[in-house]
Amino acid sequence: MEARIAVLGGDGIGPEVTAESVKVIEAVGRRFGHTFEWVPGIVGGRSIDQTGKAITADTMNLLLGADAVLFGAVGGPKWDDPRAKVRPEDGILAMRKTLGLFANLRPVKVFSQLADSSPLREERIKGVDFVIIRELTGGLYFGKPKRRWENTRGRRAVDTLSYTEKEIQRVVRVGFELARMRRKRLHSLDKMNVMETSRLWREVATEVGHEYPDVELVHMLADNAAMQIVTNPAVFDVIVTENTFGDILSDEAAVIGGSMGMLPSASLTSIPKSGGRRRRGGKPSLYEPIHGSAPDIAGRGIANPLASILSSAMMLRWSFGLHKEAAAVEDAVEGFLAEGYRTADIATPGKPSLQTAKVGDMIAAHVLG
Ligand code: IPM
Ligand code: MN
Repeated sequence: MEARIAVLGGDGIGPEVTAESVKVIEAVGRRFGHTFEWVPGIVGGRSIDQTGKAITADTMNLLLGADAVLFGAVGGPKWDDPRAKVRPEDGILAMRKTLGLFANLRPVKVFSQLADSSPLREERIKGVDFVIIRELTGGLYFGKPKRRWENTRGRRAVDTLSYTEKEIQRVVRVGFELARMRRKRLHSLDKMNVMETSRLWREVATEVGHEYPDVELVHMLADNAAMQIVTNPAVFDVIVTENTFGDILSDEAAVIGGSMGMLPSASLTSIPKSGGRRRRGGKPSLYEPIHGSAPDIAGRGIANPLASILSSAMMLRWSFGLHKEAAAVEDAVEGFLAEGYRTADIATPGKPSLQTAKVGDMIAAHVLG
C-alpha cells in the first residue's frame, strides 16, 4: 500500500523522537513492500516564532490532505508566560478539534524488563495491560464560556464542563468496541456524586452498554480510580472517561510502567472496528507519545524515542490496518529491551545508555530482520 503521512515534530524533543519513528516506518515499508510519503509541517512554539500562530490554516490543510499525522510534542519555557495571547498548546488543541479526534487511546503496558524502574512493587504491576480512552474534543478543555475578566471585586475566570449525549455515546462506543477486542471489561469513570455532566455520562454509558451484553461495564468514581491505578492496576482492561480526568489519570498511569518515555497514544476520528483503513475523504487520525517536549533535555540526543516509535506502530494498526507490520515494530521494541538496551530515562544507574538516534537505528534494523 501507499500512504501519505504528515510529520509535525513540534518543539523540544518532539522532532528528535519523531525522526526515529520515520526511520522505523521506512524500515517497515522496505520489509513489507509499502511506500510512505512524508509531508513535514510546523506547529507549536516554532510556528508561533515563524508565523505568530500555533498552527496556520496552510498547515491544517496539509494535515487534512494526509492519511495520518505523526506528531511529537509542543511547548517550552520560551512560550510559557501565562499572559501570552497565543500558546504552543493551542496548536495541538486546534488539531484535535479540527480533525475531530474525539477518542484518545493511551495504552498502559508494563514491560516486564522494566519492572525495576517502576515506583510500584513488582507484584502490583505484574500483568498490567490496560488502555485509557480519553474523550478529546469536549469536556472541560473546550466548553464555553472559557474566559477571564476583572471587575471592582477582583479577577475571575471560568471554564465550562459540558457534554451532549452524542459526544458521550461515540466515545463510550469506542470503549466497548475496544473491550470486545480485548478482555471484555470496560470501566467508565465519572464524578456522578458531584457533577451533572457525570450523571449524564453514567446514564448514557449504561444505555450504550445494552448493545454490548458481552462486555462487563463497571462504573467507578474518577478519584477512586486514581487510587486503584496505583493499588490494583491489573483490574483494568479498558477505561473510558472525560477529557480532563483522562489527561490526569493517564500521566499517573504512565509512570507505573517505569517511564513516561514508553507510552504511545492514538487520537482517532472514528470508532475502530478491527482497525481498517480510514474511509475515503475522512479525516486523518493522529499519533503521538504521551510525554511532552521535555525542554530540559532537548537537543542533547538522549530522549527516549520508544513512545513515539510505539505510536507509529499504533498508526500502522489503526489508520492503515497493517496488523503484522504493527506487531513487527512492537516485537522489535520488546526485543530491544529484552537484550538489555536502555535510554537514560530507564537506565540502570551506573550502566551506559543509548543515544536517541542509535535506538531508532537498532529498532529499524530489528524490523528489517
Ligand atoms: C496531553 C498534554 C496536552 C493536554 C497539553 C500539551 C495541551 O498534556 O496530551 O496529555 O493537556 O491534553
Ligand atoms: Mn497530559
